[in-house]
Amino acid sequence: MTEQLGMRTPRRLIVTGGAGFIGANFVHYWCGKYPGDRVIVLDALTYAGNRATIAPLEGKANLRFVQGDICDRHLIDQLLKEEEIDLLVHFAAESHVDRSILGPGAFVQTNVVGTFTLLEAFRQHWLAHDQPDTFRFHHVSTDEVYGSLEPEDPAFTETTPYAPNSPYSASKAGSDHLVRAYYHTYGMPTLMTNCSNNYGPYHFPEKLIPLMCINILLGKPLPVYGDGQNVRDWLYVEDHCSAIDAVIHGSKPGETYNVGGNNEVKNLDLVHKLCDLMDELAPDLPVRPAKQLITFVKDRPGHDRRYAIDATKLKTDLGWTPAQTVDSGLRQTVLWYLNHRDWWQPLLSQEYQAYYQTVYASV
Ligand code: NAD
Ligand code: DAU
Repeated sequence: MTEQLGMRTPRRLIVTGGAGFIGANFVHYWCGKYPGDRVIVLDALTYAGNRATIAPLEGKANLRFVQGDICDRHLIDQLLKEEEIDLLVHFAAESHVDRSILGPGAFVQTNVVGTFTLLEAFRQHWLAHDQPDTFRFHHVSTDEVYGSLEPEDPAFTETTPYAPNSPYSASKAGSDHLVRAYYHTYGMPTLMTNCSNNYGPYHFPEKLIPLMCINILLGKPLPVYGDGQNVRDWLYVEDHCSAIDAVIHGSKPGETYNVGGNNEVKNLDLVHKLCDLMDELAPDLPVRPAKQLITFVKDRPGHDRRYAIDATKLKTDLGWTPAQTVDSGLRQTVLWYLNHRDWWQPLLSQEYQAYYQTVYASV
């Protein structure tokens, strides 16, 4: 878009949810790759947000952290204007399916109303600047909007009909539809990516991979939902960041791209891999072999059986492919959790224990 003869015009961007798992990884990735850009991290610091994750970057002149809610229209208007923003990368969301089953309201508020608030503010900002063709609004979404696959079904493509099954995925689907409508109705320069399951550093302990890593290190039961045969398509988080980068720099407005690692794994097999890696890499496990800790628990209500992403469009149009396989990425991730107890230990707060008791009452 703004590149000429290899020269890149610095961008001024807001990253919503930049203190969460993927958002923070993206901020690290972006600040490392584009040090001349001005990056505003906007995050409400819910239970899932952690300012410590981006603290090493906060000393840099080009990064500003703002604690605030994406539903706060006044704040968004002010930031867009005073920081002369030309790119908004939208990660902020309530993101955990199990929490959406316990309390869907926050999901509708942040994921639907929050995304609407950002879209409307960005549209006014874009109009006030005479609709520059360099502005972009990038919405980060999920493969869960497509629903659940049977074992032999082909993977999700960008034209698979939406069929969300949880309050989380329904709220993400609602936000995706709004983004689509803002492009088609107003011509606003939107982009969208629908990604499969991410894993890697800075992943909040409630999600499958960090939960299993931490429980192995603590010698606690490893709760596998149902029969453990549900399939997810795993992508190392830095690969997700490079895919978003490729779309922002290479795609024309209005496009959507599926992002996936081509790494379909059954949950039980994944937990076995984590146990094996921990047995190999952790010197002083309380329980060894770690597989002894595996415990089958009551299934998640409405649990989607299988997700799989067809990322052909992203590869064909923009030449993107993931750098990590599931084996290389899991090894790095296990090592990261082993070496960063100082990051995850404080997250096992009283509030987290109360949540844990609610979901895993039987364990
Ligand atoms: P996360 O829960 O780790 O982080 C979400 C961040 O958003 C947190 O820092 C939180 O404080 C912030 N936030 C929540 N509500 C907010 C609000 N109202 N205003 C401002 N900030 C708010 O989530 P994640 O796993 O990093 O996911 C990021 C995005 O990527 C989400 O939109 C999610 O739907 C999408 N996604 C996630 C995955 C995955 O595997 N984790 C895969 C595909 C897509
Ligand atoms: O597919 C992308 C989605 O991946 C994102 O949109 C979501 O934000 C993200 O949370 C993730 O959703 P999942 O529900 O797939 O992820 P989770 O880590 O919660 O669970 C992965 C699988 O493991 C799922 O089949 C449920 C199962 N599971 C999970 C937990 C937390 C267990 O068996 N036991 C557990 O304790």
